[in-house]
Amino acid sequence: MRVVLVVVLLALGGCRCKPTPVEVPAVVKVPRVTTTWAPHEVAAVPDDVYGVPAWSKVFALAFERKISIGVPSCHVDGGCLAVDPMQLRGAPMVSQERILGRDEPLAFIGEQVTFLEAPDRRARLDQAIAEAMTIDPSTAPLAAVLFQNDLWERVDAITAAIRNEPGADWAVLQDLRKKLVTLMKRVALTKEQLATIASNESAVTRRYAELLAGFGERDGWAELVSQSTEHRGSTVWQRTTRHAERHGYRSVFRVFIHHAQGRAVLSQALTRWPEPLPAGTRFVITGAPMALLTDGSIEPAPFITLLETRQARAEGFIPTQIGTLDHDVLEGSRVSLTRDSGGLERLGRDALIPVGATCMPDFTSRLPSASTCLMCHGPTGARITGPMAHGETRFELTDDQTAAARAVADAKRASESFQTLGW
Ligand code: HEC
Repeated sequence: MRVVLVVVLLALGGCRCKPTPVEVPAVVKVPRVTTTWAPHEVAAVPDDVYGVPAWSKVFALAFERKISIGVPSCHVDGGCLAVDPMQLRGAPMVSQERILGRDEPLAFIGEQVTFLEAPDRRARLDQAIAEAMTIDPSTAPLAAVLFQNDLWERVDAITAAIRNEPGADWAVLQDLRKKLVTLMKRVALTKEQLATIASNESAVTRRYAELLAGFGERDGWAELVSQSTEHRGSTVWQRTTRHAERHGYRSVFRVFIHHAQGRAVLSQALTRWPEPLPAGTRFVITGAPMALLTDGSIEPAPFITLLETRQARAEGFIPTQIGTLDHDVLEGSRVSLTRDSGGLERLGRDALIPVGATCMPDFTSRLPSASTCLMCHGPTGARITGPMAHGETRFELTDDQTAAARAVADAKRASESFQTLGW
Protein backbone atom coordinates (compact mmCIF):
# COMPACT_ATOMS: atom_id res chain seq x y z
CA MET A 1 0.00 0.00 0.00
CA ARG A 2 1.36 3.39 -0.95
CA VAL A 3 0.78 5.85 1.80
CA VAL A 4 1.83 9.43 2.10
CA LEU A 5 1.51 10.85 5.56
CA VAL A 6 1.49 14.53 6.18
CA VAL A 7 1.18 16.01 9.64
CA VAL A 8 0.22 19.60 9.83
CA LEU A 9 -0.45 21.84 12.77
CA LEU A 10 -3.64 23.69 12.25
CA ALA A 11 -4.55 26.74 14.21
CA LEU A 12 -8.03 27.82 13.23
CA GLY A 13 -9.86 29.69 15.94
CA GLY A 14 -13.33 29.01 17.28
CA CYS A 15 -15.17 25.80 18.10
CA ARG A 16 -15.33 22.51 16.24
CA CYS A 17 -19.06 22.47 15.94
CA LYS A 18 -19.15 25.51 13.62
CA PRO A 19 -16.73 25.38 10.72
CA THR A 20 -14.50 28.41 10.42
CA PRO A 21 -14.48 29.41 6.77
CA VAL A 22 -11.03 29.26 5.20
CA GLU A 23 -9.52 32.23 3.36
CA VAL A 24 -12.99 33.45 2.53
CA PRO A 25 -13.75 37.00 1.62
CA ALA A 26 -17.22 35.86 0.62
CA VAL A 27 -19.01 34.40 3.62
CA VAL A 28 -22.62 34.49 2.57
CA LYS A 29 -24.75 35.90 5.33
CA VAL A 30 -28.47 35.38 5.11
CA PRO A 31 -31.11 36.56 7.52
CA ARG A 32 -32.65 33.59 9.39
CA VAL A 33 -36.36 33.07 8.99
CA THR A 34 -38.29 31.76 11.95
CA THR A 35 -39.39 28.17 11.61
CA THR A 36 -43.08 27.60 12.14
CA TRP A 37 -45.15 24.81 10.65
CA ALA A 38 -48.02 25.70 8.40
CA PRO A 39 -51.00 23.32 8.28
CA HIS A 40 -50.22 20.38 6.03
CA GLU A 41 -52.07 17.18 5.27
CA VAL A 42 -50.06 14.22 3.93
CA ALA A 43 -51.74 12.71 0.84
CA ALA A 44 -53.67 9.45 1.31
CA VAL A 45 -51.39 7.93 -1.34
CA PRO A 46 -48.08 9.83 -1.20
CA ASP A 47 -45.48 9.78 -3.99
CA ASP A 48 -43.92 6.33 -4.22
CA VAL A 49 -40.31 7.33 -3.63
CA TYR A 50 -38.85 3.84 -3.07
CA GLY A 51 -40.86 1.84 -5.60
CA VAL A 52 -42.51 0.21 -2.55
CA PRO A 53 -45.72 2.10 -1.76
CA ALA A 54 -46.03 0.88 1.85
CA TRP A 55 -42.54 2.13 2.70
CA SER A 56 -43.14 5.41 0.87
CA LYS A 57 -46.20 6.06 3.00
CA VAL A 58 -44.14 5.73 6.17
CA PHE A 59 -41.54 8.07 4.69
CA ALA A 60 -44.09 10.79 3.89
CA LEU A 61 -45.83 10.52 7.25
CA ALA A 62 -42.55 10.54 9.17
CA PHE A 63 -41.01 13.51 7.40
CA GLU A 64 -43.49 15.81 5.63
CA ARG A 65 -44.17 19.25 7.03
CA LYS A 66 -44.68 22.70 5.59
CA ILE A 67 -42.51 25.63 6.59
CA SER A 68 -41.53 29.04 5.36
CA ILE A 69 -37.93 29.33 4.17
CA GLY A 70 -35.76 32.18 2.91
CA VAL A 71 -34.67 32.23 -0.75
CA PRO A 72 -32.71 34.91 -2.63
CA SER A 73 -34.84 37.36 -4.57
CA CYS A 74 -33.10 36.47 -7.88
CA HIS A 75 -34.73 33.04 -7.59
CA VAL A 76 -38.21 34.54 -8.01
CA ASP A 77 -37.02 37.37 -10.19
CA GLY A 78 -35.47 36.17 -13.45
CA GLY A 79 -33.06 33.47 -12.17
CA CYS A 80 -29.70 33.47 -10.40
CA LEU A 81 -27.31 31.97 -12.99
CA ALA A 82 -25.90 35.33 -14.10
CA VAL A 83 -25.73 36.80 -10.61
CA ASP A 84 -22.37 37.60 -9.00
CA PRO A 85 -22.08 35.13 -6.11
CA MET A 86 -20.28 37.71 -3.97
CA GLN A 87 -23.24 40.06 -4.30
CA LEU A 88 -25.76 37.53 -3.07
CA ARG A 89 -24.46 38.34 0.38
CA GLY A 90 -26.18 41.68 0.59
CA ALA A 91 -29.14 40.76 -1.63
CA PRO A 92 -32.61 40.63 -0.08
CA MET A 93 -34.14 37.27 0.79
CA VAL A 94 -37.80 36.50 0.29
CA SER A 95 -39.99 34.02 2.11
CA GLN A 96 -41.34 30.96 0.35
CA GLU A 97 -43.56 28.14 1.59
CA ARG A 98 -42.06 24.74 1.08
CA ILE A 99 -42.95 21.17 1.98
CA LEU A 100 -39.96 19.51 3.59
CA GLY A 101 -39.79 15.74 3.67
CA ARG A 102 -40.25 15.00 0.00
CA ASP A 103 -37.64 13.18 -2.08
CA GLU A 104 -34.49 15.14 -1.21
CA PRO A 105 -31.37 14.40 0.85
CA LEU A 106 -32.09 13.68 4.50
CA ALA A 107 -29.83 16.44 5.75
CA PHE A 108 -31.81 19.01 3.74
CA ILE A 109 -35.08 17.93 5.34
CA GLY A 110 -33.97 18.88 8.86
CA GLU A 111 -34.19 17.03 12.14
CA GLN A 112 -37.46 18.24 13.64
CA VAL A 113 -39.73 15.52 15.06
CA THR A 114 -42.19 17.11 17.48
CA PHE A 115 -44.75 17.63 14.67
CA LEU A 116 -45.13 13.83 14.84
CA GLU A 117 -46.87 14.18 18.21
CA ALA A 118 -50.13 15.37 16.58
CA PRO A 119 -52.75 12.62 17.20
CA ASP A 120 -53.89 12.34 13.53
CA ARG A 121 -50.38 12.06 12.23
CA ARG A 122 -49.51 9.50 14.88
CA ALA A 123 -52.47 7.31 14.12
CA ARG A 124 -51.75 7.32 10.38
CA LEU A 125 -48.06 6.68 10.94
CA ASP A 126 -48.74 3.74 13.29
CA GLN A 127 -50.98 2.22 10.67
CA ALA A 128 -48.44 2.76 7.89
CA ILE A 129 -45.70 1.18 10.01
CA ALA A 130 -47.86 -1.91 10.57
CA GLU A 131 -48.42 -2.19 6.82
CA ALA A 132 -44.69 -1.71 6.08
CA MET A 133 -43.84 -4.57 8.48
CA THR A 134 -45.47 -7.00 6.03
CA ILE A 135 -42.96 -6.28 3.24
CA ASP A 136 -40.00 -8.62 2.74
CA PRO A 137 -36.87 -6.46 2.17
CA SER A 138 -35.32 -9.01 -0.18
CA THR A 139 -37.93 -7.96 -2.76
CA ALA A 140 -36.29 -4.51 -3.03
CA PRO A 141 -32.80 -4.57 -1.44
CA LEU A 142 -31.58 -1.18 -2.68
CA ALA A 143 -34.75 0.55 -1.56
CA ALA A 144 -34.49 -1.28 1.78
CA VAL A 145 -31.07 0.28 2.40
CA LEU A 146 -32.41 3.77 1.65
CA PHE A 147 -35.57 3.25 3.70
CA GLN A 148 -33.69 1.87 6.71
CA ASN A 149 -31.28 4.80 6.61
CA ASP A 150 -34.22 7.23 6.53
CA LEU A 151 -35.82 5.49 9.51
CA TRP A 152 -32.50 5.59 11.34
CA GLU A 153 -32.43 9.38 10.99
CA ARG A 154 -35.90 9.62 12.55
CA VAL A 155 -34.87 7.37 15.43
CA ASP A 156 -31.74 9.42 16.16
CA ALA A 157 -33.70 12.68 15.82
CA ILE A 158 -36.32 11.43 18.30
CA THR A 159 -33.58 10.37 20.72
CA ALA A 160 -32.10 13.88 20.50
CA ALA A 161 -35.50 15.59 20.91
CA ILE A 162 -36.39 13.57 24.01
CA ARG A 163 -33.09 14.60 25.51
CA ASN A 164 -32.85 18.23 24.33
CA GLU A 165 -36.34 19.63 23.74
CA PRO A 166 -38.04 20.44 27.03
CA GLY A 167 -41.47 20.72 25.36
CA ALA A 168 -41.32 17.32 23.62
CA ASP A 169 -43.89 14.69 24.65
CA TRP A 170 -41.33 12.04 25.45
CA ALA A 171 -43.81 9.22 26.12
CA VAL A 172 -45.38 9.59 22.68
CA LEU A 173 -42.03 9.94 20.96
CA GLN A 174 -40.57 7.00 22.87
CA ASP A 175 -43.43 4.79 21.70
CA LEU A 176 -42.90 5.86 18.10
CA ARG A 177 -39.16 5.32 18.38
CA LYS A 178 -39.71 1.72 19.50
CA LYS A 179 -41.91 1.02 16.48
CA LEU A 180 -39.42 2.62 14.10
CA VAL A 181 -36.55 0.53 15.49
CA THR A 182 -38.64 -2.63 15.05
CA LEU A 183 -39.27 -1.63 11.42
CA MET A 184 -35.55 -0.90 10.90
CA LYS A 185 -34.85 -4.46 12.00
CA ARG A 186 -37.55 -5.83 9.74
CA VAL A 187 -36.02 -4.19 6.66
CA ALA A 188 -32.40 -5.07 7.57
CA LEU A 189 -30.56 -7.08 4.91
CA THR A 190 -28.14 -9.94 5.35
CA LYS A 191 -24.53 -9.44 4.26
CA GLU A 192 -25.22 -11.58 1.20
CA GLN A 193 -28.26 -9.53 0.21
CA LEU A 194 -26.30 -6.29 0.55
CA ALA A 195 -23.58 -7.74 -1.68
CA THR A 196 -26.10 -8.35 -4.49
CA ILE A 197 -26.55 -4.58 -4.94
CA ALA A 198 -24.34 -3.20 -7.70
CA SER A 199 -22.16 -0.10 -7.46
CA ASN A 200 -23.34 2.82 -9.60
CA GLU A 201 -19.97 4.61 -9.77
CA SER A 202 -19.03 3.45 -13.28
CA ALA A 203 -22.45 4.38 -14.63
CA VAL A 204 -22.24 7.81 -12.97
CA THR A 205 -18.74 8.36 -14.38
CA ARG A 206 -19.89 7.45 -17.89
CA ARG A 207 -22.95 9.65 -17.66
CA TYR A 208 -21.03 12.71 -16.45
CA ALA A 209 -17.76 12.09 -18.29
CA GLU A 210 -17.10 15.83 -18.64
CA LEU A 211 -16.83 16.13 -14.84
CA LEU A 212 -15.47 12.74 -13.85
CA ALA A 213 -13.10 11.35 -16.51
CA GLY A 214 -11.39 8.26 -15.07
CA PHE A 215 -13.15 8.47 -11.70
CA GLY A 216 -15.06 5.15 -11.79
CA GLU A 217 -11.84 3.27 -12.58
CA ARG A 218 -9.80 5.47 -10.17
CA ASP A 219 -7.58 6.20 -13.14
CA GLY A 220 -5.27 8.94 -11.82
CA TRP A 221 -7.58 9.56 -8.86
CA ALA A 222 -6.29 9.10 -5.29
CA GLU A 223 -8.35 8.76 -2.12
CA LEU A 224 -7.52 11.10 0.70
CA VAL A 225 -8.31 10.38 4.33
CA SER A 226 -7.85 12.87 7.11
CA GLN A 227 -7.50 12.66 10.86
CA SER A 228 -7.91 15.51 13.25
CA THR A 229 -7.94 16.41 16.92
CA GLU A 230 -10.66 18.47 18.50
CA HIS A 231 -8.32 21.08 19.88
CA ARG A 232 -4.62 21.65 20.17
CA GLY A 233 -3.00 19.34 22.68
CA SER A 234 -5.77 16.72 22.42
CA THR A 235 -4.51 13.17 21.93
CA VAL A 236 -7.81 11.79 20.62
CA TRP A 237 -7.70 11.48 16.83
CA GLN A 238 -10.98 11.61 14.90
CA ARG A 239 -10.84 9.64 11.67
CA THR A 240 -14.08 10.73 10.04
CA THR A 241 -15.09 13.70 7.92
CA ARG A 242 -17.08 16.60 9.24
CA HIS A 243 -19.80 15.59 6.76
CA ALA A 244 -20.09 12.16 8.41
CA GLU A 245 -20.23 13.73 11.84
CA ARG A 246 -23.01 16.09 10.74
CA HIS A 247 -24.93 13.12 9.30
CA GLY A 248 -24.85 11.35 12.68
CA TYR A 249 -22.38 8.77 11.30
CA ARG A 250 -25.22 7.24 9.30
CA SER A 251 -23.46 8.02 6.01
CA VAL A 252 -19.88 7.69 4.86
CA PHE A 253 -18.16 10.40 2.82
CA ARG A 254 -15.01 9.74 0.79
CA VAL A 255 -12.67 12.36 -0.66
CA PHE A 256 -10.73 11.93 -3.93
CA ILE A 257 -8.28 14.15 -5.79
CA HIS A 258 -6.82 14.14 -9.29
CA HIS A 259 -4.13 16.06 -11.12
CA ALA A 260 -3.17 15.57 -14.74
CA GLN A 261 0.50 15.29 -13.76
CA GLY A 262 -0.16 12.39 -11.41
CA ARG A 263 -0.19 11.38 -7.80
CA ALA A 264 3.36 12.54 -6.98
CA VAL A 265 2.36 16.14 -7.66
CA LEU A 266 -0.55 15.79 -5.24
CA SER A 267 1.58 14.15 -2.52
CA GLN A 268 4.10 16.96 -2.83
CA ALA A 269 1.43 19.63 -2.66
CA LEU A 270 -0.14 18.04 0.42
CA THR A 271 3.11 18.37 2.35
CA ARG A 272 2.68 22.11 1.97
CA TRP A 273 -0.93 22.17 3.21
CA PRO A 274 -2.73 24.50 3.90
CA GLU A 275 -1.24 26.02 0.76
CA PRO A 276 -3.57 25.69 -2.22
CA LEU A 277 -3.28 22.72 -4.55
CA PRO A 278 -2.14 23.41 -8.11
CA ALA A 279 -4.67 24.95 -10.51
CA GLY A 280 -6.55 22.25 -12.40
CA THR A 281 -6.62 19.83 -9.45
CA ARG A 282 -9.99 18.09 -9.36
CA PHE A 283 -11.74 17.27 -6.11
CA VAL A 284 -14.59 14.83 -5.48
CA ILE A 285 -16.49 13.94 -2.36
CA THR A 286 -18.97 11.05 -2.44
CA GLY A 287 -21.65 10.08 0.07
CA ALA A 288 -23.21 6.67 0.72
CA PRO A 289 -25.66 5.50 3.37
CA MET A 290 -24.53 3.06 6.05
CA ALA A 291 -26.69 -0.04 6.52
CA LEU A 292 -27.42 -1.98 9.70
CA LEU A 293 -27.35 -5.67 8.84
CA THR A 294 -29.13 -8.65 10.38
CA ASP A 295 -25.86 -9.88 11.95
CA GLY A 296 -25.49 -6.60 13.85
CA SER A 297 -22.75 -5.15 11.65
CA ILE A 298 -22.72 -1.66 10.12
CA GLU A 299 -21.67 -1.63 6.47
CA PRO A 300 -21.60 1.02 3.72
CA ALA A 301 -24.07 0.66 0.84
CA PRO A 302 -22.25 -0.44 -2.31
CA PHE A 303 -23.68 2.55 -4.22
CA ILE A 304 -23.31 6.32 -3.81
CA THR A 305 -26.19 8.74 -3.30
CA LEU A 306 -24.24 11.98 -3.68
CA LEU A 307 -21.20 13.29 -5.52
CA GLU A 308 -19.89 16.84 -5.26
CA THR A 309 -17.03 18.09 -7.34
CA ARG A 310 -14.98 21.23 -7.80
CA GLN A 311 -11.89 22.26 -9.68
CA ALA A 312 -8.99 24.32 -8.33
CA ARG A 313 -8.68 27.70 -9.99
CA ALA A 314 -5.42 29.63 -10.10
CA GLU A 315 -4.67 32.05 -7.28
CA GLY A 316 -6.33 35.42 -7.82
CA PHE A 317 -9.39 33.98 -9.57
CA ILE A 318 -12.49 35.96 -8.74
CA PRO A 319 -15.86 34.39 -9.51
CA THR A 320 -18.31 36.65 -11.33
CA GLN A 321 -21.31 34.51 -12.25
CA ILE A 322 -22.93 31.63 -10.41
CA GLY A 323 -23.48 29.76 -13.68
CA THR A 324 -19.76 29.65 -14.51
CA LEU A 325 -18.51 28.33 -11.16
CA ASP A 326 -16.87 24.89 -11.43
CA HIS A 327 -18.90 23.52 -8.55
CA ASP A 328 -21.24 20.67 -9.33
CA VAL A 329 -23.54 18.43 -7.37
CA LEU A 330 -24.84 15.04 -8.51
CA GLU A 331 -27.66 13.94 -6.30
CA GLY A 332 -29.41 10.62 -6.01
CA SER A 333 -33.08 10.97 -5.23
CA ARG A 334 -34.84 7.88 -3.91
CA VAL A 335 -36.82 7.70 -7.14
CA SER A 336 -33.78 7.95 -9.42
CA LEU A 337 -31.73 5.47 -7.36
CA THR A 338 -34.41 2.81 -7.26
CA ARG A 339 -35.52 3.19 -10.92
CA ASP A 340 -32.38 4.00 -12.86
CA SER A 341 -29.00 2.28 -12.88
CA GLY A 342 -26.91 5.51 -12.87
CA GLY A 343 -29.16 7.03 -10.31
CA LEU A 344 -27.62 10.48 -9.84
CA GLU A 345 -28.97 13.70 -11.35
CA ARG A 346 -26.84 16.77 -11.98
CA LEU A 347 -28.30 19.79 -10.19
CA GLY A 348 -28.49 23.09 -12.02
CA ARG A 349 -25.92 25.51 -10.62
CA ASP A 350 -28.82 27.71 -9.58
CA ALA A 351 -30.87 24.89 -7.99
CA LEU A 352 -31.65 25.94 -4.45
CA ILE A 353 -29.95 23.98 -1.68
CA PRO A 354 -29.63 24.82 2.01
CA VAL A 355 -27.05 27.37 3.09
CA GLY A 356 -24.10 25.26 4.32
CA ALA A 357 -24.78 22.70 1.54
CA THR A 358 -24.26 19.06 2.57
CA CYS A 359 -21.64 19.80 5.18
CA MET A 360 -23.59 22.06 7.55
CA PRO A 361 -27.07 22.35 6.01
CA ASP A 362 -29.46 24.91 7.43
CA PHE A 363 -32.90 23.88 6.19
CA THR A 364 -34.46 27.31 6.85
CA SER A 365 -32.72 29.15 4.01
CA ARG A 366 -31.56 28.14 0.56
CA LEU A 367 -29.13 29.54 -2.01
CA PRO A 368 -28.15 28.60 -5.55
CA SER A 369 -26.15 25.38 -5.30
CA ALA A 370 -22.89 26.57 -6.90
CA SER A 371 -22.75 29.71 -4.77
CA THR A 372 -23.04 27.89 -1.42
CA CYS A 373 -19.65 26.23 -1.93
CA LEU A 374 -17.71 29.51 -1.77
CA MET A 375 -18.65 29.93 1.86
CA CYS A 376 -16.25 27.18 2.92
CA HIS A 377 -14.06 26.53 -0.13
CA GLY A 378 -13.25 30.15 -0.99
CA PRO A 379 -13.22 31.75 -4.43
CA THR A 380 -10.56 29.45 -5.99
CA GLY A 381 -11.64 26.22 -4.25
CA ALA A 382 -7.98 25.17 -4.42
CA ARG A 383 -7.31 24.16 -0.87
CA ILE A 384 -8.02 20.69 0.48
CA THR A 385 -10.58 21.49 3.09
CA GLY A 386 -10.01 18.84 5.73
CA PRO A 387 -12.42 18.40 8.61
CA MET A 388 -12.03 22.04 9.76
CA ALA A 389 -10.87 20.97 13.20
CA HIS A 390 -9.03 23.26 15.53
CA GLY A 391 -6.25 21.00 16.67
CA GLU A 392 -3.94 19.02 14.41
CA THR A 393 -4.87 17.63 11.02
CA ARG A 394 -3.14 14.78 9.13
CA PHE A 395 -3.73 13.87 5.52
CA GLU A 396 -3.01 10.53 3.97
CA LEU A 397 -3.39 9.26 0.40
CA THR A 398 -4.58 5.69 0.68
CA ASP A 399 -5.51 2.68 -1.43
CA ASP A 400 -7.56 1.18 1.38
CA GLN A 401 -11.08 1.48 0.01
CA THR A 402 -12.72 0.53 3.29
CA ALA A 403 -10.87 2.93 5.62
CA ALA A 404 -13.45 5.74 5.50
CA ALA A 405 -16.44 3.44 6.10
CA ARG A 406 -14.71 1.55 8.92
CA ALA A 407 -13.98 4.84 10.68
CA VAL A 408 -17.64 5.91 10.38
CA ALA A 409 -18.94 2.53 11.62
CA ASP A 410 -16.57 2.69 14.61
CA ALA A 411 -17.63 6.24 15.46
CA LYS A 412 -21.30 5.27 15.23
CA ARG A 413 -20.85 2.19 17.37
CA ALA A 414 -19.15 4.30 20.05
CA SER A 415 -21.91 6.93 20.04
CA GLU A 416 -24.61 7.20 22.65
CA SER A 417 -27.31 7.23 19.98
CA PHE A 418 -26.20 3.77 18.86
CA GLN A 419 -25.90 2.35 22.33
CA THR A 420 -29.53 3.18 23.05
CA LEU A 421 -30.71 1.62 19.76
CA GLY A 422 -30.61 -1.94 21.05
CA TRP A 423 -29.31 -3.31 17.74
C1 HEC B 1 -20.19 24.53 5.47
C2 HEC B 1 -18.96 24.37 4.74
C3 HEC B 1 -18.98 23.72 3.37
C4 HEC B 1 -19.76 24.06 2.28
C5 HEC B 1 -20.81 25.14 2.20
C6 HEC B 1 -19.34 23.19 1.20
N1 HEC B 1 -18.36 22.35 1.64
FE1 HEC B 1 -17.32 21.02 0.50
N2 HEC B 1 -16.29 20.42 2.15
C7 HEC B 1 -16.39 20.95 3.41
C8 HEC B 1 -15.52 20.22 4.32
C9 HEC B 1 -15.34 20.49 5.80
C10 HEC B 1 -14.89 19.23 3.55
C11 HEC B 1 -13.86 18.19 4.00
C12 HEC B 1 -14.54 16.88 4.29
C13 HEC B 1 -15.15 16.85 5.67
O1 HEC B 1 -14.41 16.80 6.66
O2 HEC B 1 -16.39 16.86 5.76
C14 HEC B 1 -15.38 19.41 2.19
C15 HEC B 1 -14.93 18.64 1.12
C16 HEC B 1 -15.32 18.82 -0.18
C17 HEC B 1 -14.73 18.14 -1.31
C18 HEC B 1 -13.58 17.15 -1.24
C19 HEC B 1 -12.25 17.89 -1.33
C20 HEC B 1 -11.86 18.65 -0.08
O3 HEC B 1 -11.66 19.86 -0.18
O4 HEC B 1 -11.78 18.03 1.01
C21 HEC B 1 -15.40 18.56 -2.42
C22 HEC B 1 -15.16 18.14 -3.85
C23 HEC B 1 -16.39 19.52 -1.99
N3 HEC B 1 -16.33 19.67 -0.62
C24 HEC B 1 -17.26 20.18 -2.85
C25 HEC B 1 -18.21 21.10 -2.41
C26 HEC B 1 -19.19 21.70 -3.28
C27 HEC B 1 -19.32 21.44 -4.79
C28 HEC B 1 -19.93 22.55 -2.51
C29 HEC B 1 -21.10 23.39 -2.93
C30 HEC B 1 -22.21 22.69 -3.52
C31 HEC B 1 -19.42 22.46 -1.15
N4 HEC B 1 -18.39 21.56 -1.13
C32 HEC B 1 -19.90 23.19 -0.07
C33 HEC B 1 -17.17 22.03 3.76
C34 HEC B 1 -18.10 22.64 2.95
